Amino acid sequence: MLDGLGDWRRTHHCCELGAEHVGERVVLMGWVQRRRDHGGLIFIDLRDREGITQIVFDPQRNEDAHQRAHNLRSEWVLAVKGEVRRRPEGMTNPKLKTGEIEIIVDELKILNRAKTPPFLIEDRIEVSENIRLKYRYLDLRRPRMLNNLRFRHSAAQLVRKFLNEKGFLEVETPVLTRSTPEGARDYLVPSRLSPGRFYALPQSPQIFKQILMMSGFERYYQIVKCFRDEDLRADRQPEFTQIDIELSFTNEEEILGIMEEMMARLFGELLGVELDIPFSRLTYEEAINRFGTDRPDTRFGLELVDLTDIAANCKLKVFSQAVEKGGMVKAIRVPGGAELSRKDLDDLIEFAQGYGAKGMAWIKVNPEGWQSPIAKFFTPEEREMMRERLNMNPGDVVLFVADSSMVVHEVLGRVRERLGKQLELVDSNSFNFVWITKFPLFKYDFDEKRYVAVHHPFTMPLEEDIELLTLNPEKVRSRAYDMVLNGSEIGGGSIRNHRRDLQKKVFEVLGITDEEAESKFGFLLEALEYGAPPHGGIAFGFDRLIMLMTGASSIRDVIAFPKTQKATCLMSGAPSEVSVEQLLELSIQVIKD
Ligand code: AMO
Ligand code: AMP
Repeated sequence: MLDGLGDWRRTHHCCELGAEHVGERVVLMGWVQRRRDHGGLIFIDLRDREGITQIVFDPQRNEDAHQRAHNLRSEWVLAVKGEVRRRPEGMTNPKLKTGEIEIIVDELKILNRAKTPPFLIEDRIEVSENIRLKYRYLDLRRPRMLNNLRFRHSAAQLVRKFLNEKGFLEVETPVLTRSTPEGARDYLVPSRLSPGRFYALPQSPQIFKQILMMSGFERYYQIVKCFRDEDLRADRQPEFTQIDIELSFTNEEEILGIMEEMMARLFGELLGVELDIPFSRLTYEEAINRFGTDRPDTRFGLELVDLTDIAANCKLKVFSQAVEKGGMVKAIRVPGGAELSRKDLDDLIEFAQGYGAKGMAWIKVNPEGWQSPIAKFFTPEEREMMRERLNMNPGDVVLFVADSSMVVHEVLGRVRERLGKQLELVDSNSFNFVWITKFPLFKYDFDEKRYVAVHHPFTMPLEEDIELLTLNPEKVRSRAYDMVLNGSEIGGGSIRNHRRDLQKKVFEVLGITDEEAESKFGFLLEALEYGAPPHGGIAFGFDRLIMLMTGASSIRDVIAFPKTQKATCLMSGAPSEVSVEQLLELSIQVIKD
């Protein structure tokens, strides 16, 4: 028989009681974490959201409760009334907050039973993530998951408090909307009332927040769900949360400054970590040249070194020909890398080839000289120049890639990242922030054979590059910035284009016709003509930020109900089939092959 709660109210959480409460009568409620039957006495670790308290059933104290306690199993739900008493000498548990006391039970209510859970409700479990996702309600009972979400809650509260103090207004924007310009695939929602028409779920509130600036709101924020139908990874979900921010009458200095202050508050108050502000800054060009990527992990060195001039005339054809074709040769010096075995090097080469390298040459610097398949191709002068430029020392290994600049940077950027992890060069307790600025406004999309926006089409070009818009679009830099933390892009934004004429020019480069612009963003363009203030903003990937702050290995561990790599929810079974009636109502026919 199950018991009802009746008029019982709990007096304490399971983390609260200590020696100072000895003698008090209390009511606790929670789940059975563990039961131990010690002949006469039965011990239960009772768990609730806040912690664990040991409760004791003694037949001398209450025969009936003791009898019923024999049946208790993991995850049953209990309420107990009893007295706090000190644990006997030698039985205290210093690892537990409540380890000095226990509750001797006078009355027991069994509120619910539980099937045997498919995994233990503990931090360290060995079970596939799919099982955890299917039984997410059990997974979320584990302290680590609960704490991740508790942390996320605190961070959201702190962000709100901070932005409120700075005069930002929280405004909600629609979820049923039109396609927005972040460039991923849209999730579409059919309209019943307008057959054949679709809403798009927002990839971000980008256009709405700009409109709010044109409405004179001056400072907006929202902690908001965004939807993108793209390939998923450990740090990408189809629906994810942004801290979305926009402000008027502003410039980069002000925006970056406020965001640094916000990060300093978050890290200071939640982790006790003092951040060095202002954060360092790299232009996009510098980041690519030195690290091969626009989201460099700056916790370690292994920077890329340009050897194109030295390699241009060398006898190694793969090098000189790459340069001849307009490409380049760059290298990474790995201090202590001579320790890497042939197998390690072969693995690295295979890894590099996975990212498009034709090969990756290497030189080991041994005390007696260079060991390398390519050493013989260089003159003593070339060797000396390389040694000096790379600062080569005995014990180092140097890795070379010759190719187009795109391939060289992509490959060496990935190799660098991998070596950082493999050689344990990163201090996992440090947080290195860097701003990346002055991104190119456009990049050429070889598949679509046209320019596309690197950030989004409403980004302002750099003043001094405006005249290149027609002459050399690829050279135009933008007033966009990303915030990068430990090699992860946690936020991005820009100063926006608030001038209708300039916006038109940008659309021309993007090959967006007047009609297309009119039909897609007509309302925004029109709004630009009614007194749009200069404005700009940024959005943070809130899930990513929380992942990095909690040390979680995937954003799925900081989202209550995440989706799988295939964008399914294993608990609810979404996406699911719907009835023919529902489809008919929406004027939709499903074609299955
Ligand atoms: P952007 O597209 O750079 O900018 O997105 C901002 C930040 O959101 C995070 N993010 C994601 N997180 C989890 N899963 C995803 N699929 C995902 N996609 C992006 C990243 C990224 O830095 N409207 C602009 C912002 C602006 O200009 O103000 C925008 O959405 O951390
Ligand atoms: P090969 O002449 O093809 O035997 O290459 C000689 C060395 O150069 C080998 O160690 C290859 O791995 C390396 N190599 C080949 N192509 C490239 C390239 N594009 N960049 C850097 N190293 C390369």
